[in-house]
Amino acid sequence: MCGIVGYIGTQAATDILISGLERLEYRGYDSAGVATILEGNINCIKAKGKLYNLREKIERDVNPAQIGIGHTRWATHGKPEERNAHPHLDMEKRIAVVQNGIIENYQQIRDELKSKGYEFRSETDTEVIPNLIAEVLKTAEEDFLPRYARLLAAVQKTVNRLKGAFALAIICADYPEEIIAVRQQAPLAIGFGQGEFFCNSDVTALLPHTRAVLSLENGDIAKLTPLGVEIYNFAGDRISRFPRTLDWNPVQTEKQGFRHYMLKEIYEQPAVVRTCLDTYINPNWHADENPDFSPVNIGLSPITDDLEHIQILACGTSWHAALIGKYLLEQVAGIPTTVDYASEFRYSPKPIIPNTLTIGVTQSGETADTIAALESERARRAGLEPKFQAKLLAITNRAESSIAQICDRIIDTHAGIEIGVAATKTFVAQTMGFYFLSLDLAYRRQAIPNSRIEEIIEGLRHIPSQIETILDTQADAIEELAHDFATETEDFIFIGRGINFPIALEGALKLKEISYIHAEAYPAGEMKHGPIALLDNKVPVVAVAMPGSVYEKVISNAQEAKARDARLIGVTTAMNATEAGHTFDDMLTVPEVDELISPILSIIPLQMLSYHIAAIKGLDVDQPRNLAKSVTVE
Ligand code: AGP
Repeated sequence: MCGIVGYIGTQAATDILISGLERLEYRGYDSAGVATILEGNINCIKAKGKLYNLREKIERDVNPAQIGIGHTRWATHGKPEERNAHPHLDMEKRIAVVQNGIIENYQQIRDELKSKGYEFRSETDTEVIPNLIAEVLKTAEEDFLPRYARLLAAVQKTVNRLKGAFALAIICADYPEEIIAVRQQAPLAIGFGQGEFFCNSDVTALLPHTRAVLSLENGDIAKLTPLGVEIYNFAGDRISRFPRTLDWNPVQTEKQGFRHYMLKEIYEQPAVVRTCLDTYINPNWHADENPDFSPVNIGLSPITDDLEHIQILACGTSWHAALIGKYLLEQVAGIPTTVDYASEFRYSPKPIIPNTLTIGVTQSGETADTIAALESERARRAGLEPKFQAKLLAITNRAESSIAQICDRIIDTHAGIEIGVAATKTFVAQTMGFYFLSLDLAYRRQAIPNSRIEEIIEGLRHIPSQIETILDTQADAIEELAHDFATETEDFIFIGRGINFPIALEGALKLKEISYIHAEAYPAGEMKHGPIALLDNKVPVVAVAMPGSVYEKVISNAQEAKARDARLIGVTTAMNATEAGHTFDDMLTVPEVDELISPILSIIPLQMLSYHIAAIKGLDVDQPRNLAKSVTVE
């Protein structure tokens, strides 16, 4: 959601804050602002819209301040207007606060402060925080606190009054040598430089400055001064935490010549799958040698021993990967599996089944709903006898994220950082995670013959070069086809069956997210039960028709759509193209592939089609309206 930055050191803070915000803009981009302390006063500049609006304003007002905080916003309370942009100041303009999250009891605090004469300038929940700190600071002298401890103590008292999930960075003109940073269920990391310190919502945004980082934990309050960083808990006790060194390369977060991050990330998919295979597939495993070890180096025992049930919790694209996971865990490993939207599961959890593995899937590792669902699952099973207790596994590319901290184990998908808001490579990598998990379980439970396991692995080994083939041979044709839909098409329908139904869902989500064209996906067999009424010659239908157990069924369902004048676009294999050509008006072809692993190929042309439609429409592909890469509010 929103992004927070902070800097204290010897350089001009504004430049560092703006470049930090640029790396966070994917989190929210409807307004932005920075506040610095200059000559004993807070200097606050804000702008509605994209960051370049703020940059323009700042260029007219360059200042040498060496301490500051900044924010890029995804609106929750109050419209995306300048008055609602962060930082928010107290009434006397001595304290500035940036927040990511939601303060649930803000109205009560606002009313209380109003009754004491405080006035508010915005509609946000955040504005109560600087005013509450100001109110608490009034009594700091009476509390006989030494000067150096006052701001920290006031923040401590304030955060203990706040309900909700939030991360904060705070400066005060009367304490010009400190930034106070707070984490309570919204991410915040500290970067350690030489005589300078940073804070940021995303550790990756710290990479240009330092690799020594500390991800704060829930309930941490950090005091950053030019001399160092001290960490306290909400009760005021000092606690020890140690930074770690990130081994990421800042180049991963550059566009590297691609027009958009999304396109770059689509083209990174072969490498991502290769890394996954190199990391997890055991090259010494051969079915005909009757191996007594797993083909997959995933090391998830004991949390995956004696499973009776698996439940997967996720949102959005990660939920689509989870649906493929369900198919694999049931059809390959033979384990009953449920998939729930994390936001639904939180409030209507399933009855407790013993020996259940709960999997959270997330590319950001910070999705508030997914994290809360996993935490509530842990809590409701705590204290029960061992077989009922929670076993939590995360599938994520962000091994340093919040989800990794709350789960017992993770499958690190090694997809690296994804910047484009529309998930592409992380989806493919999450799906790979499910192949590894189900193959490991299938082997250990002997759910399918070893020879079949080897066949699937062999198929997976071909995936990277097969994706390259699609990118090399189909890109131009897909771009050309995209022109047909960029101007007048208002609705799209996607259909698929079996393991490719989630691909229909993901194809539709990609299209609506970045091109703003309305798109729905249905299991192909469900069309005739209602959605077929939507069809006419203005509604194109994309049918994911990969050869295998349900191919003929999908073709028949596609024919039914064609009979209603819909333009039919088929995703199928190249070898099938001649025969499928009788059905489809247009075809997006992929190499020959085992049906069980076909989703990793069938999604690629759909990502490309969405990308090109949005790019032709001239839309902001990487930062589509109303969305954010990391959804840290409920
Ligand atoms: C994907 O293109 C979307 N931006 C969105 O649906 C996303 O998948 C969802 O918000 C879940 O995010 P997560 O994977 O970070 O948990």
